[in-house]
Amino acid sequence: MTSPELFDAVDVIMTKRDGRTLDSAQIAWVIDAYTHGAVAEEQMSALAMAVFLQGLDREELNAWTAAMINSGERLCFTDLDRPTSDKHSTGGVGDKITLPLTPLVASFGVGVPQLSGRGLGHTGGTLDKLESIPGWRAALSTDEMRAQLSSVGAVICQAGAGLAPADRKLYSLRDVTGTVASIPLIASSIMSKKIAEGTSSLVLDVKCGSGAFMTDLESARDLARTMVDIGEDHGVHTKALITDMSAPLGCSVGNALEVREAVEVLAGGGSSDVVELTIALAREMLDAAAQVVTSFGVRGAGIAAGSFQAEQLADTLLQADPSQALRSGQAMDTWREMIRAQGGDPDADLVWAHHSEDVVSTRDGYLTSLDALKVGMAAWRLGAGRARKEDPVQAGAGVVLFAKPGDRIKVGQKLMTVHTDTPGHIARALQALEGAWVIETEPKKETSLVLERIAAE
Ligand code: URA
Repeated sequence: MTSPELFDAVDVIMTKRDGRTLDSAQIAWVIDAYTHGAVAEEQMSALAMAVFLQGLDREELNAWTAAMINSGERLCFTDLDRPTSDKHSTGGVGDKITLPLTPLVASFGVGVPQLSGRGLGHTGGTLDKLESIPGWRAALSTDEMRAQLSSVGAVICQAGAGLAPADRKLYSLRDVTGTVASIPLIASSIMSKKIAEGTSSLVLDVKCGSGAFMTDLESARDLARTMVDIGEDHGVHTKALITDMSAPLGCSVGNALEVREAVEVLAGGGSSDVVELTIALAREMLDAAAQVVTSFGVRGAGIAAGSFQAEQLADTLLQADPSQALRSGQAMDTWREMIRAQGGDPDADLVWAHHSEDVVSTRDGYLTSLDALKVGMAAWRLGAGRARKEDPVQAGAGVVLFAKPGDRIKVGQKLMTVHTDTPGHIARALQALEGAWVIETEPKKETSLVLERIAAE
């Protein structure tokens, strides 16, 4: 721990306020002193606003991220008998990709240590989704996580309180000081947690569109590039896909509803956009794991970098066919093992909400847009999300979509159904959906889901 007397918080704030550069020692001190209460909340608020307005250069950002990592424990899985790869999504509506993707990649012998969070606001949380499976347990100790990575390969669990505690404190502060939407602060927040989690390679799914943090391509590109640079500078092989989040992903938004859809994908079916993105991200993760094997070997399996065994393993990962693993049931087998290992019953019936209402079209034509943010807000109001961290979520609440952009629509056709246990919330959800879709006489040109790929330069 750095000595609290080394620097003066007001100097640090004024340096950044005036657009000058902070050195690594100042940054390490201020993050450490804030974590331990020696820098006050109001001082950190001022510094966060100064960073929001003035930014951080690459060296400052690396020092900031390193200080956040060093505020807690850093996991290390280099003693595992397999390479590791993880994915992080910046969050979107209907984004259930982690559920099929984690077992899919693990089914090829790659360890996927996926530390996830709960939802806040209109974007859902992976843990909330999985908790709709009876018996499933989010909290694992580091030893349990390590054991499951060795036996099943796939783990999705809650990040322990010891991981990047500075970020937890700073994120709550940013939430109430108008400093969330800052690329350096978002990038360091996400990357400090992902680097501390101990993965050797990382694939980022940076969402772009109405339902995402980044609504335009230029900012999504900037965020993706910043996070890839941080990862690479910290020795984690990192790549990013920028993907479209103007419409919800798949056909369901809400906890149990999304688990059902994920299981359909694992059974070889599911919506084409969810399948496409799951396969694209799996391909990136397998390639990243192969690159790690080539560069570093697999220490826990006694495979040295440059050895024949390393080359063979890397080649197997490069040749792996994720779409075949979804069709053959290989990924489904790993899903079932992963759910069972955490106390869940993969065969249990998932709940349905007690009340539902259909929304029908009043026009003929083509659905040309379906606003992700509005659908996410509706699902939230129905009870699928929470307004405060302490709030409970309804497992069965949410929205099921029966039409996606590009579909031909007839008058009276069902566009979506809203589900909730609290019928008094339906009117507010329908209000959120006002203007959420556009039906036109001509279809719009199809656009692709994966907009760009960003790798280290
Ligand atoms: N997610 C995070 O973990 N941190 C941010 O700052 C924004 C999104």
